[in-house]
Amino acid sequence: MRTLQLAGVEVPVIGQGTWRMGEDSSQYASEVAALRQGIELGMTLIDSAEMYAEGAAEEVVGEAIAGQRDKVFLVSKVYPHNASRQGVPLACERSLKRLRTDYIDLYLLHWRGQYPLEETVDAFERLREAGKIGRWGVSNFDLDDLHELAAPACATNQVLYNLEARGIEFDLLPWCQQQRLPVMAYCPIGQGGHMLAHATLGQVAARHAATPAQVALAWILRQDGVIAIPKAVRPEHVKLNAQAHDIRLEPGDLEALDQVFRAPQRKQRLAMV
Ligand SMILES: NC(=O)c1ccc[n+]([C@@H]2O[C@H](COP(=O)([O-])OP(=O)(O)OC[C@H]3O[C@@H](n4cnc5c(N)ncnc54)[C@H](OP(=O)(O)O)[C@@H]3O)[C@@H](O)[C@H]2O)c1
Repeated sequence: MRTLQLAGVEVPVIGQGTWRMGEDSSQYASEVAALRQGIELGMTLIDSAEMYAEGAAEEVVGEAIAGQRDKVFLVSKVYPHNASRQGVPLACERSLKRLRTDYIDLYLLHWRGQYPLEETVDAFERLREAGKIGRWGVSNFDLDDLHELAAPACATNQVLYNLEARGIEFDLLPWCQQQRLPVMAYCPIGQGGHMLAHATLGQVAARHAATPAQVALAWILRQDGVIAIPKAVRPEHVKLNAQAHDIRLEPGDLEALDQVFRAPQRKQRLAMV
C-alpha cells in the first residue's frame, strides 16, 4: 500500500478508525477481529480516542494489537477538558493502560477547548521527551486555529473530509499541503450513510467494478498528503476498504463527481461530526 510520512514514520494512506467500537460487548470479538484483519491487509495505522466508548474502544485496540505492537502506528486523542498541564499526562497514562502499550505514536488534541494551546502543547512536548508519545498533533483545527497554534512540531490535523464535506479544499487543505502537514480524513465514507446511495457515485463505482464506498476512499486518496481512516467491523468492508487503494479515478470520473458533490467556492467554516 502507498505510504506517506506522518510524524517521521512511513504510514499507509488507508488506516482504520475505531469510533463506535467498544460500545456493545457482544461486538467485542468482531471488532478485535476486524482490526486484526485490517492490520494483515496493510491498514496498520489505527485511530482511536479516549472519548470513544469512554475508553472501551482503546481496549478493543489493545486486544487487537497484543503481540504485534511493533507492526502498528497508534493514534489516540485527548479530550479538550483533559488538555491541561496536569490533565494531559494523566489522560495519556489511562490511554496507554487501555491500549496495553508504553507509547502512542501520535497523540492528538481532539478539538479546541478551554485550555490555552501553549499549555496543551507544553504537556504534549513533555510526554514526547518522556517517550510516552512519538509526536503530537491536532484535530478539528481550522486554518485560523493552525495559524494561532504556529507550531512546526504539530504532526497532523485530523478533520472531516468526504465527498459531501469538501469545505477544506478551499483553504485548509492547500495550506496543509503547502506546509507538508499531513491531513487525516475522518468519516471518509460518510459514516456509511446516504452518500453511498448517490446515483452518480454508483455509476462511477460500476465503471471500476468497485463499490461506492471504495470510490469515496479512492476520491480522497487522489489528494497528496491525505490519509483516510475508515472504520469497518464487517469483514467484507475491511477487505473492500484495503482494496480501494488500487482504484485510480479518471478525469471523467472526477468531473462527474464534481457535478453532484460540489467543491467549495468560498471559505466555509470547518465542519465537524
Ligand atoms: N477527530 C474527530 O473528531 C473524528 C470524528 C469522527 C470520526 N473520527 C475517526 O474517523 C473514523 C472514521 O469515521 P466514522 O467511523 O465516523 O465513519 P466512516 O468511516 O466514514 O464510516 C463508518 C461506517 O461505514 C461502514 N463501512 C465501512 N466500510 C464500508 C464499506 N466498504 N462499504 C460500506 N460501508 C462501509 C461501517 O460499517 P461496519 O462497521 O458495519 O463495517 C460504518 O457503519 C472514526 O472511526 C474515528 O476513528 C474522528
